[in-house]
Amino acid sequence: MAFQNLLLERKDGVAVITINRPDKLNALNDATVAELDRAFAEVGADDSVRGVILTGSGEKAFVAGADIAELATQSPVDGKERSIRGQKVLDRIEDLGKPVVAAVNGFALGGGCELAMACHVRIASENARMGTPEVKLGIMCGYAGSQRLPRLVGKGRALELLLTGEMVDAQEALRIGLVNRVVPKDKLMAEAEALVRKMIANGPVALRFTLEAVNSGLELPLAEAQYLEATLFGLICTTADMKEGTQAFLEKRPAKFTGK
Ligand code: COA
Repeated sequence: MAFQNLLLERKDGVAVITINRPDKLNALNDATVAELDRAFAEVGADDSVRGVILTGSGEKAFVAGADIAELATQSPVDGKERSIRGQKVLDRIEDLGKPVVAAVNGFALGGGCELAMACHVRIASENARMGTPEVKLGIMCGYAGSQRLPRLVGKGRALELLLTGEMVDAQEALRIGLVNRVVPKDKLMAEAEALVRKMIANGPVALRFTLEAVNSGLELPLAEAQYLEATLFGLICTTADMKEGTQAFLEKRPAKFTGK
């Protein structure tokens, strides 16, 4: 089924998902959130896709937030359900099992900042502006921003952003660890692609288990998280990728991983 509000391209193992409502600064209305869910389900299930780049269309925005026109009329029941639906979509991204790089090409505000934080790595263009301005609208984060932001940048920095609702520029986002790197605008997509290609050159099972160890492990006490890591490490020793990767090193040749 075609998408109305997204573009999805596949290129040699990398899927590029572009949120495509530039006239509304790519604001996430319910239809777009549902399409994001479908697009990520599709690329997650497609073995030919080994990594994903998520970006926004147009010159100004990655995503300028949830669609305020829809939020304005919501009842408490709608609000809670919208929040849970959105959280599940972002969890699907975080738990995709393949690297997802956010190419933050402008405003990433509210739900847009939350969406970028659900991706595994964020690269920002120099014109990016990020923040959680929900409090200025008399609301709060609903797509797990109040949880992912402190985990990413620490409680004090997160609370400053969450309570002031102020935006930070790309350099400040870099300084506080909200993005991994900042690049000139015209290099953003090339840099995002180069980064994702570096990742997907590695063993697919190794990437999947590493994502699982980090995502699940961070929510566990250290002893249990270490046990999870050891269990995944044991499991990875059964894979063809492990045999190929170690053998290739010993034979001084590049590995040919199959993801098996
Ligand atoms: N929801 C719905 N529509 C949005 C939107 C959002 N989150 N963000 C921007 N838009 C729409 C604007 O209403 C405008 O639509 P119109 O042309 O039909 O009037 C269009 O996108 C362009 O936005 P505009 O405000 O004119 O651009 P700007 O360059 O002057 O300002 C922002 C850019 C990002 C500073 C400003 O749009 C803004 O503050 N957006 C809301 C950010 C926010 O609070 N997000 C959190 C939501 S929970």
